[in-house]
Amino acid sequence: MPAIDLKGRDFVRLSDFSAEEIDSILNLAFEMKREQRQWSLKGKTVILLFFNSSLRTRTSMEIGVAQLDANAVVLNVGQDAWNLEWREGVVMDGDSPEHIKDAAKVLSRYGDIIAVRSFPKLKDYKEDSEDPILSSFVRYATAPIINLESAVEHPCQGLADLMTLREVFNHTTRRKKVVLSWAPHVKPLPLAVPHSFALAAALGGCDLTIACPEHFDLAPEVMAQAEAIAKKGGGNVRVERDQDKAFAGAEVIYAKSWCSRHFYGNPKAEFEYRAKLPSWTVTEQKMARTSRAKFMHCLPIRRNVVATDGVLDDEDCVVYQQAENRLHAQKALLFKMLDG
Ligand code: CP
Repeated sequence: MPAIDLKGRDFVRLSDFSAEEIDSILNLAFEMKREQRQWSLKGKTVILLFFNSSLRTRTSMEIGVAQLDANAVVLNVGQDAWNLEWREGVVMDGDSPEHIKDAAKVLSRYGDIIAVRSFPKLKDYKEDSEDPILSSFVRYATAPIINLESAVEHPCQGLADLMTLREVFNHTTRRKKVVLSWAPHVKPLPLAVPHSFALAAALGGCDLTIACPEHFDLAPEVMAQAEAIAKKGGGNVRVERDQDKAFAGAEVIYAKSWCSRHFYGNPKAEFEYRAKLPSWTVTEQKMARTSRAKFMHCLPIRRNVVATDGVLDDEDCVVYQQAENRLHAQKALLFKMLDG
C-alpha cells in the first residue's frame, strides 16, 4: 500500500482523498479523542477566511489549532478583511476593493494553510456548482486549501459524520441502514452538507437511502460518485420518495434541509411546491418506525421545523457527539496535512 502523504494537498471535496487516506485521518482523530497527549504543530499558521457566519466550524477550527500549539488567524470577509472579487477580467469599480487572485497569493506567503467558508448565492445553479470563490482560492493560492463549506461540499462535516457513524456502529458501518432525509426549513439551503454526508456514508459502505420529495434530488455527479464509492465499500445508494417507507427499519436518520435544483434561484416557486407536500418534519412518531435509529444533524437546526424537540432531546440523538467530532476530525486533518 502506498504511504499516506497529505502534505501540500487541498481538501476541497471528500473525494480529494482516497478511502485509505480518509481512514488514516479518522484513525488519528480517534487517537486524539482518546488520548490526552499533545500533538504539536508549533510554528504553523492556519488562516481561516469566512465569507459567511459559523458557530461550530469557526470555534472547532480555532480551538483545534490552539490545541495543536499552532496559530489561527481568523478573518471575516467584508468586516476584518476587504470584500473580495472573484470574477476574472472585470473592471473592479464595485464594492470589492481586492481580487482573490491577489489575496490568495498574499495569504499564501503568511499562512501554511488557508481554510475558506463560502456559501452559494443560490441564484444561478451553474455558477454555484462551479464553486467560484473556493475555486479561485485553489487556482491562485500556493498554500493548501481546506473547504470549510462551499456551494458544493462540506468535507470537514463529512469527516466528522463518518467518524460519528463509526462510533454509532462500533466501527462496523458496512451495510448499515442509513437514511438521509430531506426536511423542511424556512428558506432554501445549500446542498453542501447532504452531498458530503452521502459521500461519507458511501465511504462507510452503508446502505444509504436518500429520502426526498421529487425535485429535491442531489446533484447527479455527486450521486454517481456516491454510488461508485458505496459499491467499492460493499454498500449501495438509493432514492425513496416516501419518508415513512424510508424510515422503516433504519438504523440512522440524518435529517437535513436542502434546496431544490429544479426551482433553483426561485424560492417563491419552491415554497409554492413545498406547501403541497406532506410534512417532512422528523417526529417521535416517525422515529418509532425505525430500528431505534440514532438521529444525526450537522447543526444549526431549527427545532420543531426540521425535527421536533422530542427527537432532539432524546437519548438516541447524537448531534452533540457529531459536533464534538468536528474538533477531533479537523485536528487530525490539519496534523496530517501539515506534519504527516
Ligand atoms: N455544521 C456547521 O458547519 O456549523 P456552523 O455553520 O455553525 O459552522
